[in-house]
Amino acid sequence: MSLVITIAQQKGGAGKTTLAANLAAALAASRKVAVLDIDPQGSLSRWHRLRAGQNRVASIGFSDVSGWRLARELGRLRLNHDVLIVDSPPQLDTDAKLAIRAADLVVVPLQPSPPDFWAAEGTLMLAATEQRACRLLLNRAPAAGTLRAGVEAQIAAAGYPVFTATLGNRTGFAAAFAQGLGVTEAAPRSTAATELRTVLAELERLWT
Ligand SMILES: Nc1ncnc2c1ncn2[C@@H]1O[C@H](COP(=O)(O)OP(=O)(O)OP(=O)(O)O)[C@@H](O)[C@H]1O
Ligand SMILES: [Mg+2]
Repeated sequence: MSLVITIAQQKGGAGKTTLAANLAAALAASRKVAVLDIDPQGSLSRWHRLRAGQNRVASIGFSDVSGWRLARELGRLRLNHDVLIVDSPPQLDTDAKLAIRAADLVVVPLQPSPPDFWAAEGTLMLAATEQRACRLLLNRAPAAGTLRAGVEAQIAAAGYPVFTATLGNRTGFAAAFAQGLGVTEAAPRSTAATELRTVLAELERLWT
């Protein structure tokens, strides 16, 4: 049984594409993974092309089919992959809605700041309307501080599901991305890689 994870958040720059690439790369070590880039910016497509030039990395399937053909494309890819990861654009347009509708789990990255939180709420509402499981993930989170504590308090007060694991502000994510890799491949002993593996372990507990 394959799993579709859609990374969605209408706020630009929250870390959707970074998260999609890093989850895919880490999962590809043990599962058959495909990524779908439905964002016209095409960042994940560029990452996947860079990856094609890398030796000795697990291969990852790819598609950039979007719109009304997305559901059929996911159905096709489900046949020979364990996990499908969809990276969506920074607005709740029709494509993003279709990607949320098709997901088994929607992951919403947000940086610990009010605009990210407000935008995440819109994505959570849409996932609720579509009756999709959805979970927030704090990205670029400092270890402590007023902003982080404030956003965490708002999440708790609203009762929104959120990963216990968080990702810090780590340059390793961009460095790995530039090579078509995930942090678990480019710098497996880094803090970024440890954090990513912790997110992944929590994610895997959700679906097993
Ligand atoms: N945890 C992190 N630590 C450091 N830099 C990060 C982290 N997550 C993302 N970034 C950086 O933040 C920028 C935006 O990230 P990314 O492109 O993944 O966001 P996005 O939500 O996909 O953006 P868009 O909405 O434009 O698609 C990139 O330069 C990326 O390298
Ligand atoms: Mg993106």
